[in-house]
This record gives sequence, structure tokens and C-alpha cells, in this order.
Amino acid sequence: MDPTATTAATPTAATPGGIELEHVGKSFDGGNTWVVRDLTWRVEPGRITGLLGPNGAGKTTTLRMIAGILPPDRGTIRVGGVDVTRQPLDAKRRIGLVPDAPALYDRMTGAEFLRFLADVYGVPTAHRTRRMEELGRRLGIGDWVHSPIARYSLGLRQRLLLVGSLLHDPPVWILDEPIVGLDPEAARALKDLMVERSRRGGTVLMTTHLLEVAERLCDVVAIMHRGRLIAEGSPADLRRRFVREGGEEPAARPAAAGLPADAGLEDVFLLLTREPAPGGTDEPGPGRHAPGGSR
Ligand SMILES: Nc1ncnc2c1ncn2[C@@H]1O[C@H](COP(=O)(O)OP(=O)(O)OP(=O)(O)O)[C@@H](O)[C@H]1O
Ligand SMILES: [Mg+2]
Repeated sequence: MDPTATTAATPTAATPGGIELEHVGKSFDGGNTWVVRDLTWRVEPGRITGLLGPNGAGKTTTLRMIAGILPPDRGTIRVGGVDVTRQPLDAKRRIGLVPDAPALYDRMTGAEFLRFLADVYGVPTAHRTRRMEELGRRLGIGDWVHSPIARYSLGLRQRLLLVGSLLHDPPVWILDEPIVGLDPEAARALKDLMVERSRRGGTVLMTTHLLEVAERLCDVVAIMHRGRLIAEGSPADLRRRFVREGGEEPAARPAAAGLPADAGLEDVFLLLTREPAPGGTDEPGPGRHAPGGSR
């Protein structure tokens, strides 16, 4: 899907999905260095968006700010039109978060943990039972739900987190490295859920280092480097921008000269993130933002 060619609904207070960031900045050392720099970005509903970038690029920091668990130092973030800083509870209700380093309560059973989350989100009893069963079945939790979480394997913990993140049926699903630890069957179930939710108009935003997965699964990928978005578009669009097609003169599209015709998203990623981001400074000033199709 080409994001420049679609007419996705503009997120407003009346529509539940969509994420908007305006001039968002985050520094962990009082403003000496900026981990996220002047980030202005829209994540549209009805799509799976992949946030890609090298280790330390600022992806998790960005997701945590969107989810309202880390306050931005600059700028505003809205989820479905709701300001995450001013109306945190309202915003959080719209979000299902799968964190990368979760704190799980080892002494609880899976079922107790899920009921606890359902309480936090105020999911009615009838709904929670049905959703726990349905999601538990799809993600293959089975009878483990009655065992203490301390006995869970890595992948089973991840499956439980995935179920827990969807109990309140949020319009916005945010997943930080969700595929890590999942076996192929659970990974397929997760991908199917992501596709379903986005096709129903939900917003799905994930980070991943699995570029082959991103290339197949994501409608839009955004590449983050040193706290800035340096490219955004559908995987096919990014390829078109940076890969030289047969017979084309490099002068026509200088960026394309670097990559051979059979290059994929991984090659584009490595090309873009190999060099220091142009204009890289430790100031949070205007960043280099390349929305889909503009370059
Ligand atoms: N709580 C914190 N205190 C200080 N520095 C932090 C904190 N959290 C993150 N950072 C720094 O912010 C930068 C971005 O980290 P972040 O976790 O957002 O990267 P990432 O893109 O998610 O990387 P990865 O691919 O490894 O998950 C890193 O340099 C990291 O050391
Ligand atoms: Mg991370």
C-alpha cells in the first residue's frame, strides 16, 4: 500500500485511531543529548506501520512516550485526537501496549494476570471471559493459563502479554519487538491478528529488527536513526526510491544509484543507516523528516 496514494481518515477526537506527534523531543540528561529529536510524525489507522532503526535509535523511547509511560520533554502526542500528556487515562484506554521488557508478576497465574489487566481497563466480566478464551486459543496459551507465570517459557510470556494487550479491544495496538521469542506458529497467529486489526481500521505500530517480516507485513515502514525519522513509505516505495531500475540513469535519481535492482528493504535500511544522519547535532532543532513520497 502506498501511503501517499491513500486517503486514510484524519484522526480527530471523534475517531478512535491514529497517532500524531508534533515536534516531540526526549533527553535523558537534561538536554545535553536528545534521544528523540523534533519528531513530527503521523501513524495512520487502517495500516500496519513498522518503526525500524538500529539499536539505540530511539524506537522504544518513542513508543513509550506514545503509550504515556514516559513523558516527552518537548512537543505533543495525540492518540485518536486525545493529548497523551493532558488526558493520560483517556489516551491509555485507546492503547494496547506490548512492551519489550515487561514486568510480569511471577507468582500470579496467567489467568490472574489477565483478570488483573481486565480490571485495570474496566473490561466487563462477560467480555473478558470471552476475549481471554478467544485470544488464548488463537495464541496457543491453553491450560498454561492456570499455571504460575514463573513456570512460563519466554515465548509463553510473550503470548500472555499479547493477549493482555488486547483484552480491552483497543483501537491502537503498539508492539515493541513482539515477534522475539515466539515460535513460528505463534508468530503467524500474531501476524494474522495484526492484519485483521488493521483491516478493521485499527492502528498497528510495531518495532522490529526482522526486516524480511517488516517487508512482507507492514503497509508503511519508517526508519529511525539517531532520534530522527530519515525515511518513510511502503516497502515497495522505499525500494523504488533507492534502487536503480534497469536502464535508468543514476543522474535521474541520485539516491537510487547506490543499490542494485534486486535489493530489498534490508539493503535500503543498511544504506540509509550506515552514514551519520545529515544535520546530526545535539540540538533538538528542526529535524530531517521525510514523509512518504516527498523525496
Ligand atoms: N531511561 C533511560 N535513561 C537514559 N538513557 C536512556 C534511557 N532509555 C533509553 N536511553 C537511551 O536512549 C537511546 C535510545 O534508546 P531506545 O531504547 O529508545 O532505542 P531503540 O531504538 O529501542 O533500540 P533497540 O533496537 O536496541 O531496542 C539509547 O542511547 C539509550 O541508551
Ligand atoms: Mg527498543
